[in-house]
Amino acid sequence: MAYGHIVITPEAMRAFLLARRSTRAFREQPVPGEIIEQLIEVGTHAGTASNAQTENFIVIRDPILLSELDEMVIGTIWDKLKPLGSRIGRRLARIRHGEEMVKQYVLYYERFRAAREKGEGVVFRHAPAVIAIHGLKANRSAHENCAIAARNMEMLAQAMGLGTCWAGFLLIAAGLSHKIARRLGVPDDRNVYSAFMLGYPTHDYPRTIPRRPREVRWL
Ligand SMILES: Cc1cc2nc3c(=O)[nH]c(=O)nc-3n(C[C@H](O)[C@H](O)[C@H](O)COP(=O)(O)O)c2cc1C
Repeated sequence: MAYGHIVITPEAMRAFLLARRSTRAFREQPVPGEIIEQLIEVGTHAGTASNAQTENFIVIRDPILLSELDEMVIGTIWDKLKPLGSRIGRRLARIRHGEEMVKQYVLYYERFRAAREKGEGVVFRHAPAVIAIHGLKANRSAHENCAIAARNMEMLAQAMGLGTCWAGFLLIAAGLSHKIARRLGVPDDRNVYSAFMLGYPTHDYPRTIPRRPREVRWL
């Protein structure tokens, strides 16, 4: 087997990483199990704190379950956002969470209100597959372990011509309600810490997009 630094030039890797984008429109083409097994393999090769290797994977491809989960996530988050519909609710939220957070919540509020009305797949975007990664609640690094495993998988997926998108709303909802984890068969001592949609993209991105300059301090 050849290793990364031998077969991938830095220029190719840089171009590959700069080209990465989230995919939110998927073809109705299923993702074969063998492909997903390869993704899981690279997921298990991500580093884990203390080399614990306790993160496990759930592959969701059943469209009925996906749409049921989509609704559960929307319902769970909607219950939290509902108070933002009133002026008093927004004022209380500002006091509790600050202006910036409420601005973001209000955007979500509008999106989830519309999704509930139209019964849209706003959470999973009709992706043919979602992969969730769960870790032990008692492991203080479970969050990072799951995220790093997911990013490994997303990168290989991109190289295979697949598209992915982080399923942040699923994670928020899973943190708010045990119902979602239970529906996925996640044991009580575990949490879902990362999840992403997976499928064949309907279109290609012609170029990368500029990013906000960040503060970098060299010490
Ligand atoms: C922690 C995290 C959570 C995210 N959650 C969602 C999500 O729930 N739904 C979604 O469509 N995109 C989600 N995204 C994707 C971001 O919106 C996306 O990365 C960002 O807009 C930049 O676009 P790009 O990935 O195409 O470069 C999430 C990204 C991150 C890092």
